[in-house]
Amino acid sequence: MSSLELVLANIALKEAYLAFIAECRDDIIATNFDAMIPLSDTHTVEADIEKLTDFHLGKGLPDNWVPGSTYWLIEDKNRIIGTVNIRHWLNEALMFRGGHISYYIRPSERGKGYGTRMLTLALERCREMGLEKVLITCKKDNSPSAKIIQKHGGVLASEGVDGPDIIQRYWIQL
Ligand SMILES: CC(C)(COP(=O)(O)OP(=O)(O)OC[C@H]1O[C@@H](n2cnc3c(N)ncnc32)[C@H](O)[C@@H]1OP(=O)(O)O)[C@@H](O)C(=O)NCCC(=O)NCCS
Repeated sequence: MSSLELVLANIALKEAYLAFIAECRDDIIATNFDAMIPLSDTHTVEADIEKLTDFHLGKGLPDNWVPGSTYWLIEDKNRIIGTVNIRHWLNEALMFRGGHISYYIRPSERGKGYGTRMLTLALERCREMGLEKVLITCKKDNSPSAKIIQKHGGVLASEGVDGPDIIQRYWIQL
């Protein structure tokens, strides 16, 4: 039986990260998905992962950013299935869109329950961080994501328009 764990982004997994990006790059560009997934190549991967570590520690943050921790969902110690970014608190922008958590499963592994499993594990991390409730935002037409949020007790609080998107805001009590 394969093992599945959530680990902080780290340099020991750089080959796995490069393989992950090789699969996801086109999809991330096409969907303009933004969840702290640097599109590294062999020359930039170490610096990119180091930056993720810095953001986890609250170092070197761009203006108006809050500290955020990037975890990878790892199968059998060496394959990255997905990535999840947990913001340590909310600012005004994240309150509107972004929330505490965003997540991404590599395209070849979708529809197999990994997204659900990854959010379960990410919420455990949020509890350990002392968060009492988390905000997750989701495009209204993203039914897989909405289902995952609702399965974890997410309650729809509001909807907002952001350009062409209708954004739903769900709160999950921890
Ligand atoms: C959203 C996302 C994380 C879902 O991951 P996943 O591993 O496919 O999710 P799961 O397999 O756990 O499925 C979750 C639910 O969505 C459903 N689902 C999965 N793929 C679906 C699809 N293509 N169409 C409709 N429903 C789908 C599943 O059946 C499941 O519902 P169920 O529990 O009622 O059966 C993944 O599609 C993804 O990475 N998308 C791009 C990034 C993104 O949108 N992130 C979320 C916004 S922050």
